[in-house]
Amino acid sequence: MKDVQQQFHQSSHAVQDHWDSRYKQNGDQSLSWTESAQSLSQQWIRETVPRSASIADIGAGRSLLLPTLLRAGYRDLTHVEWSQSASKALQHQLSDQASNITWFIGDLNLWQPSAFVDLWHDRAVFHFQMDHRSIQQYLHSLHRAVRPSGYALLATFHLDGPETCSGLPVQRYDAHSLISILNDFRDANWKEVKSQIWTHRTPSGSEQIFQYILARRTSFDP
Ligand SMILES: C[S@@+](CC[C@H](N)C(=O)[O-])C[C@H]1O[C@@H](n2cnc3c(N)ncnc32)[C@H](O)[C@@H]1O
Repeated sequence: MKDVQQQFHQSSHAVQDHWDSRYKQNGDQSLSWTESAQSLSQQWIRETVPRSASIADIGAGRSLLLPTLLRAGYRDLTHVEWSQSASKALQHQLSDQASNITWFIGDLNLWQPSAFVDLWHDRAVFHFQMDHRSIQQYLHSLHRAVRPSGYALLATFHLDGPETCSGLPVQRYDAHSLISILNDFRDANWKEVKSQIWTHRTPSGSEQIFQYILARRTSFDP
């Protein structure tokens, strides 16, 4: 058992180092997942929750989502990311505005908000959970953080999307399998609010098909 835990610990650090060096060695134009501030995520968030809502961006990297929401008047924003380089770069970019965001540098599974969040956002992070154990661990963290009747906005590679992201294997989904996996967690009950297949054009010009889903948590079957 000790060996297994140690191996997990080591491989987790190796993946974390992978991401940190990707950010250290590459500008945004060299990272396939870079998108403009006018993202589908910011559009859906603005349509769904008021400016008073608490929003966590999970595995947020150097994404412009939180800076864009901050500019739009959202004030309860948390950036969760285990690459210190990415987090510090975004803080530096935001300058004195950075203090309006809560920053957590570490594994998303170690993040515990002091109060429930209204909306959990994840673009291109959940799909890296490849085995039952890491999927369950991720879902545990999500359910611990999101308030009853809160939202999860997830974007993963679609079934027709790429098989790897940043050189790592990914699990691909459609809207049906995403809502099913959310509802497979203990007595969870999520309802789809909306979903969309979205083609992301990378900075180098290739296309990646994503599945977006916005789901709402309900505590019982009506
Ligand atoms: C493909 S990038 C997407 C970044 C961002 N969500 C976006 O859309 O621009 C995946 C991100 O997830 C982060 N990440 C992966 N696993 C993580 C974990 N267990 N805890 C925190 N961050 C993680 C990586 O460091 C990286 O920033």
